[in-house]
Amino acid sequence: MRGVILAGGTGSRLRPITSVTNKHLLPVGRYPMIYFPLHAMIEAGIEDILVVTGPEHMGHIVNLLGSGRQWDVQFTYRVQDSAGGIAQALGLARDFARDDRVLVILGDNVFDQPLDGFVRSFEAQGEGARILLHKVPDPTRYGVPELRGDRIVGIEEKPRMPKSDYCVTGIYAYNPDVFSVINTLEPSGRGEIEITDVNNHYVRQGDLAYDVLAGTWTDAGTFESLMVANAFAQNFRLGRFEPSEVEAL
Ligand code: DAU
Repeated sequence: MRGVILAGGTGSRLRPITSVTNKHLLPVGRYPMIYFPLHAMIEAGIEDILVVTGPEHMGHIVNLLGSGRQWDVQFTYRVQDSAGGIAQALGLARDFARDDRVLVILGDNVFDQPLDGFVRSFEAQGEGARILLHKVPDPTRYGVPELRGDRIVGIEEKPRMPKSDYCVTGIYAYNPDVFSVINTLEPSGRGEIEITDVNNHYVRQGDLAYDVLAGTWTDAGTFESLMVANAFAQNFRLGRFEPSEVEAL
């Protein structure tokens, strides 16, 4: 299985700081935000990872992450020319993925649970896609699933009247057919190719499975959520991502 971290977008809700650097490099606890999805991906055993980001601050991302050698993994980078949506950014992973399955994580998702169980369940699943849900107090900010029994029967993006207390986190697993699905999609009202449209395609096929992510999860795309992320991550230690004492001096 290969990994894809999506770290494009404009970061408009965090201006002015995102005018001069990439949102995913802002500090969360002791680390740059992007370390959280990356750490979870690497700890789940994924060694080939594509990082997609915008052209403006690509150099900063490469300066931070390098080749991946320090964590015994290999990074590939691709530029998303403009913020055309999460699914558009994922579409750039087509050549990288070849015929492999992909674990996709949004670069602003901060969480404290390992993903091995999710990855193993997806590997056992065979067809389709699998997503992680999390219970939230404010579902209107997210993609929200409608649940019937143990099935998702639809997902609405930022609904006014949410049909459950869960959000769709930015953690997804897909078979390689996801790239043909993306090719069929049109931009939404906000001009983006939506990941929710991708996931609803699998709902219609009866092929979208889910797990619920326990522990703490937040995205960190607004000042409020960045503060929440910082509050809960302040005492986190990300094992191999901890700078050595020598580097810290
Ligand atoms: O975090 C979970 C939520 O993420 C989901 O519940 C929603 O269904 C999903 O649409 C998304 O909503 P957001 O409004 O939070 O998406 P945002 O535009 O903030 O983008 C989140 C990340 O996706 C961002 O940190 C980088 C990546 N991205 C986004 C866009 C629009 C890209 O790589 N390229 C893009 O063009």
